[in-house]
Order: sequence, then structure tokens, then C-alpha cells
Amino acid sequence: MLRYRKSNGIVSFPLLFVLLMGCGASQAQVLSAIPLPEPLVTGVTIEETIQDRRSIRNYSDSWITLEELSGILFAAQGVTSPTGFRAAPSAGATYPLFIFVAVSRVDSLLAGTYLYDPNAHALVPLAEGDRLAELEQAALGQSCISSAPAVIVISADFSRTTSVYGERGESYVYIEVGHAAQNIYLTCTAMGLGTVAVGAFHDNRVAEVLELPDDFIPLYLMPVGEPADS
Ligand SMILES: Cc1cc2nc3c(=O)[nH]c(=O)nc-3n(C[C@H](O)[C@H](O)[C@H](O)COP(=O)(O)O)c2cc1C
Repeated sequence: MLRYRKSNGIVSFPLLFVLLMGCGASQAQVLSAIPLPEPLVTGVTIEETIQDRRSIRNYSDSWITLEELSGILFAAQGVTSPTGFRAAPSAGATYPLFIFVAVSRVDSLLAGTYLYDPNAHALVPLAEGDRLAELEQAALGQSCISSAPAVIVISADFSRTTSVYGERGESYVYIEVGHAAQNIYLTCTAMGLGTVAVGAFHDNRVAEVLELPDDFIPLYLMPVGEPADS
């Protein structure tokens, strides 16, 4: 794949360029991708995380670290092989999922919205400003959204999969978001963080808040943060 190399990271240029043009962003923003640190390694066993996983809706006022966010994003869609295969399975490796993050309280990051670039393991800044209150309104006022340090928004470009599998591809995308969400759940559990898969929201309002490209559909909102009672 054609890549655009810059001093602080490698951006998969064609994908981001197309995406960001769709988001109304400029090429300058493509060049300011923020490389993420290595994902945090917890050493917690998979058996423990499965046993302990629970949906958490109340978060403390704490910030999360960039290492923690890195681990969460890597679990969702990180590239885990030299040939580009990712942490979550994908029908025909078509990879229709795009992970956005609305940040409020993450160390070293300005409040704003970001797009995760799996190939570069980097964050592409999209817009400045805390959008969590707006996201909460789009999610029927669920308070777990605005009280979290960050909200992961899993969205999909269905055409990447339906262009290969036709109508059947639509089901594949919905199945796939479950794989990514479960990875996020288990990784948060291993890190001592909490999350909840939020499916009750107005698609169009979430898309507006995130300024998603026209063909992108938001599928899950996942607030992440330290559980309030820990
Ligand atoms: C498709 C789907 C949609 C969900 N939507 C919401 C939601 O909008 N708000 C919420 O608080 N929890 C939501 N949940 C989380 C469930 O309420 C939760 O998984 C369930 O209560 C079981 O609890 P547990 O996850 O702790 O095992 C959703 C879960 C799924 C699978």
C-alpha cells in the first residue's frame, strides 16, 4: 500500500485522505496524526477478564492515560500481523469498521474528536472541543456518556463489505461490531477500567456530532473510564 511517511509516524495516506476529505478536514490535519504508545500489557488472564467483565455505567472523575486508550483502540481494530490482519475478525478481511474517539479527559490529548488509524496505530485529530454532552443527548440522555473520560464510537462503512458479499454483507458488519466491542470490554476489564456497549442512540445525531462521512453509520458508543466505586 502507498504510505505517507512523516517524522512522528506512518500514515496510511490514501485511506485517511479519502476519509478526512469526507469529514471536511484538510490535508494539514492528515499530517498531524498523533502516534499512540505501545498498548498497555496487563498480564491479566483471559479467563479472569471473561469472569469479571460487567457493563459499567458510573465513572470516577479520573482521567485515563494515553497508554490505556492505545490498548483499547488496539484491541478494537489494531493491526496484529505484517499482512494487515487485525485484532477482531472481519468477513473476507474487508474491515468495514472505523473507530472514532470523543475525548474529554485523556492524558496528553486535547478534548476533541479523533479517528483511529489502525495501520499507523495513530490518532488523527478531527475537531477540537468536548463533544460528550452532545453525544449524551444523541444517546437519549444516558449519563454514562458525558461522565466518561472518553467515548469510543464504532462506525462502519457498509459498502466495504456489501461490495464483496452483497446484502449478506450487511449482517456481517453487524456481527463484526460485536467482535470489536467484546475486545474493548475485555481489555477495559483487564486494565481495571469500565465500559458499556450503548446501542440506544439516534444515528443521525451521533453522525452529526462526530461529523462522520456521509456513508458511515455509527453502531455502538462505548464510554470508557475508571469505575466510580473502585
Ligand atoms: C446490542 C446492545 C445494546 C445495548 N445498549 C445499551 C444501552 O443503550 N445502554 C446501556 O446502558 N446498556 C446497553 N447495553 C448493555 C446491556 O444492558 C448489558 O450488556 C446487559 O445489561 C447485561 O449486563 P452485563 O453486560 O454487565 O453482563 C447494550 C447491550 C447490547 C448487546
